[in-house]
Amino acid sequence: MNYQWYPGHMTKAKRMMQENIKLIDLLIELVDARIPLASRNPDIDVLGQGKSRIVLLNKSDLADPSWNRQWMNYFQAKGIHVLEINAKTGLGIKAIHNLVREACAEKLERDRKRGIVNRPVRAMVVGIPNVGKSTFINAFAGKACTKTGNKPGVTKGKQWIRLDKTLELLDTPGILWPRFEDQRTGMLLAFIGSINDEIVVKEELACDLLECLRTIAPASVEGRYGIVWKETSAEMLEEIARCRGCIQKGDVLDLKKAADLFTDDFRSGRLGRITLERVEQENEG
Ligand code: G4P
Repeated sequence: MNYQWYPGHMTKAKRMMQENIKLIDLLIELVDARIPLASRNPDIDVLGQGKSRIVLLNKSDLADPSWNRQWMNYFQAKGIHVLEINAKTGLGIKAIHNLVREACAEKLERDRKRGIVNRPVRAMVVGIPNVGKSTFINAFAGKACTKTGNKPGVTKGKQWIRLDKTLELLDTPGILWPRFEDQRTGMLLAFIGSINDEIVVKEELACDLLECLRTIAPASVEGRYGIVWKETSAEMLEEIARCRGCIQKGDVLDLKKAADLFTDDFRSGRLGRITLERVEQENEG
């Protein structure tokens, strides 16, 4: 299948981000731990020039723990401050405060030398749709935080959440639309549901995902459905349809239903914790 996607609202979202970026010191970039590179938008490097940066591997509960560690090492080796988190349960969130201090050490030192004290670091959360930005802001800011409201000299309508006296968060996350030039990245984004499902053929998506899991996690698929690998992924999808009773009128297999069920099993972690992007592959590519 040809994975292409050009959402029309991309330019507007980018303009909004450019406006907001002027107001902040720190970018907190959320990526999906199952595809830590494919879920980054390359524009972020340009947008974030001159800003302190943190990468959070979110949905780490859905990714393989040993690959989470390897991806942490990968980002650290590039000098990027990184943590693995689960925004849904709050796991790893507490450690972010220390990471913010590390990432912003230079800025804090500059402020100190200029005699500026008690000026909080201002941060914005960015990431592609569905990566967990809103869930993260809720978990990080929590109920205890108060919105600081509009400030003089700051673009009207911007809401800041004061986490403590050292850190403020812009409460609207920056949405970066996925931008990809290669088909593989598009395919990975479609697997996790970050590309509109309406533009993909679900049966083909399921077959591509099966092909990918055949090498990465063969036992997870066999174990989940109690079946063994067939020669082709199309036959495998038929097998899943049979064992899950996806049958239409006239005893015909309902492959669309089987594809939806299988894709959903993967996305929600019912096939186990699976990382689709591997560090070595990325270094080679
Ligand atoms: P966005 O603002 O970046 O678009 O993402 P949002 O927070 O709306 O999260 C998208 C989906 O990802 C939500 O699921 C959310 O619960 C889930 N999610 C966010 N962080 C994590 C995480 O660390 N682990 C897991 N497993 N899921 C996470 P949903 O199905 O759309 O909503 P809901 O049924 O969970 O409420």
